[in-house]
Amino acid sequence: MKVTISLIKADIGGWVGHSTVHPKQMELAKKKLEEAKQTGLILDYFVFHCGDDLQLLMTHQKGEENPEIHKLAWDTFVEVTNKVSKSLKLYGAGQDLLSEAFSGNVRGMGPGVAEMEIEERKSEPIIVFAADKTAPSAWNFPLFKMFADPFNTAGLVIDPNMHLGFKFEVMDTIENKVVVLSTPEEMYDLLALIGSYERYVVRRVWRKDGLIAASASVTRLSLIAGKYVGKDDPVLIVRAQHGLPAVGEILEAFSFPHLVEGWMRGSHNGPLMPVSLKNAKCTRFDGPPRVVGLGFQLHEGILEGPNDFFDDPAFEYTREKAMEVADYIRRHGPFEPHRLSAEEMEYTTLPGVLEKLKDRFKEAE
Ligand code: F6R
Ligand code: MG
Ligand code: MG
Repeated sequence: MKVTISLIKADIGGWVGHSTVHPKQMELAKKKLEEAKQTGLILDYFVFHCGDDLQLLMTHQKGEENPEIHKLAWDTFVEVTNKVSKSLKLYGAGQDLLSEAFSGNVRGMGPGVAEMEIEERKSEPIIVFAADKTAPSAWNFPLFKMFADPFNTAGLVIDPNMHLGFKFEVMDTIENKVVVLSTPEEMYDLLALIGSYERYVVRRVWRKDGLIAASASVTRLSLIAGKYVGKDDPVLIVRAQHGLPAVGEILEAFSFPHLVEGWMRGSHNGPLMPVSLKNAKCTRFDGPPRVVGLGFQLHEGILEGPNDFFDDPAFEYTREKAMEVADYIRRHGPFEPHRLSAEEMEYTTLPGVLEKLKDRFKEAE
């Protein structure tokens, strides 16, 4: 059976500040998706959040980029904004809803989208990841680890079905172009691109035989709007097992709290800390950037789960390491490389501050 998994998210108001979402937002979103399930539009859903982003995970049979499904997500965000975020005066109510009118597809309108149409296998384990206070490039490192690094994923060496490697679709977010690179043959070319977080983002990964393995969101709100408006906190869907990385190989990619861009005011580098749903709220310096990982077994499109994977002492060491790194890098205060490079700061409120110094610069002797 063909099933589409759609994970659509938006920050439509934070409680308190940019920390997390309000329980009433989750409640209303669930109600809306339950109604859609009853009418048969979607097969199943799971509403959750990571930090201040409301996450709508849905399964259906309408394919990717389907106007009805995108409209359902958009209408849900609008209704939650109007009925909850605005009346409770939540912070930044509706901030990711960049356009007033819906035009058939939420892509480019603010919300982040990861979608994947699959032929449901005999058993279909999937993991969805959602991160807050960071950007889509945050997945570059773990996706490389999962699908191209034999020191992370033993299956690349051991499993004949994975031994040929994977194909990565990389998007140039500045030029709006994509390129597909094969690993292991083009591993160094791939790394030459995806190590540049500010520009290149992995959007999809396939097995060499064409089986879709991972799909990520690539919305960059700052690029859509030309300045720092809201966040582009990313989401990711990964399929596991039986000729794909095992659940544990996928999770292993998050055992190292690599540095990502985002954090306070979207202007700082910091470690990505894997957390449980109950700890998916941002606190220290509006962070540190966090990621949740939820496992589901699909059966005829029903989402059997979630298995809250990072709710586990096995990730305690990673969290401790993340906080050690957070503490270390925080001591740089406004200095690079904690604060992003001047180029990246162009999309923030910093140019406004520098503007007033412009006329005071004299020629140096
Ligand atoms: C980062 C983020 C927050 C805000 C910060 C300032 O993604 O959402 O760190 O940038 O709290 O917010 P304002 O300018 O709204 O007071
Ligand atoms: Mg926010
Ligand atoms: Mg957010």
